[in-house]
Amino acid sequence: MPKPKIYVTRRLPSEKDMKKLYEYCEVDLNERDEPPSREELLEHVKGKDGLLCLLTDKIDREVMDIAGSQLKVISTYSVGFDHIEVEEATKRGIYVTHTPGVLTDAVADHAMALMLAIARRLIEAHNCVKTKGCWRTWSPTFLLGEDVYGKTLGIIGLGRIGTAIAKRAKGFNMRILYYDIVRRERVEKELGVEYRPLDELLREADFVSINVALTKETYHMIGERELKLMKPSAYLINTARGAVVDTSALVKALREGWIAGAALDVFEEEPLPIDHPLTKMENVILTPHMAAHTEEFFREAAVTVAKEVLKALKGERPAYLANPEVYSTTKLRT
Ligand code: DGY
Repeated sequence: MPKPKIYVTRRLPSEKDMKKLYEYCEVDLNERDEPPSREELLEHVKGKDGLLCLLTDKIDREVMDIAGSQLKVISTYSVGFDHIEVEEATKRGIYVTHTPGVLTDAVADHAMALMLAIARRLIEAHNCVKTKGCWRTWSPTFLLGEDVYGKTLGIIGLGRIGTAIAKRAKGFNMRILYYDIVRRERVEKELGVEYRPLDELLREADFVSINVALTKETYHMIGERELKLMKPSAYLINTARGAVVDTSALVKALREGWIAGAALDVFEEEPLPIDHPLTKMENVILTPHMAAHTEEFFREAAVTVAKEVLKALKGERPAYLANPEVYSTTKLRT
């Protein structure tokens, strides 16, 4: 029997996982350490049974059309799957799998790092040490930051990552509020976190951390109105998706002092253009969508994504389906 054909848009970091793919599949691999261009993607998906991709690859109807009707599975090496038209895949009976869980701690660590860095002006402090004449120890006007310890943290989205952030924040004796579309009563009890409607959370929190997936419902959920509800002394931390926040409103909020600052790992446009207003602002810290970038994450996610694509191609049920309804409504076409 011929091996199923898959297109892999980026080499997996472990040879062991790549070997597993080669054993069972005919692999077409993008060898470069950068995403394929749109043209390359469209060329290479033709006639494939599986697609192993990253969040930099936009997988839409056109890609699925060009791939053809034998495409059975799209496996993304990320927890987010907003780069994939999941509804379209579902209509066609194509599995979409992702890698939740394996990046929870990495992203939660990064959110805490951003919170501490913006509150304690870490980047300015680091640059100051390297700049002649900047260092003025013990001056009450020099690089004054704020305590994180004991402050109020508002978490928007108390899923895996939000909960992992809450656990860390407890160690900082923070009062923890959360908003979610569902009440997380178990976590409320276990961690002592308190539910608040979104507007109340925004009014009360000293730090607001965004931890929701990007969906039609969460697109621009933080806009002018919401930013104006925040305290002028509050900070916004976003490690989820850029488009959850209306960027123009955020730029205005930061310029006009509606909030004290923002620490962002994700942007509506990525890479963020170098001349974007956010790159010029003193009260922001920016990182290049790398909250999950730890050796542990890449190692574990590679194992998961390889297993998922192989399961689907062997006719087994993948463990992490973004569209589980495909499993219940269609027979896998093995
Ligand atoms: C993901 O995997 O979706 C995350 O955005 C990585 O930070």
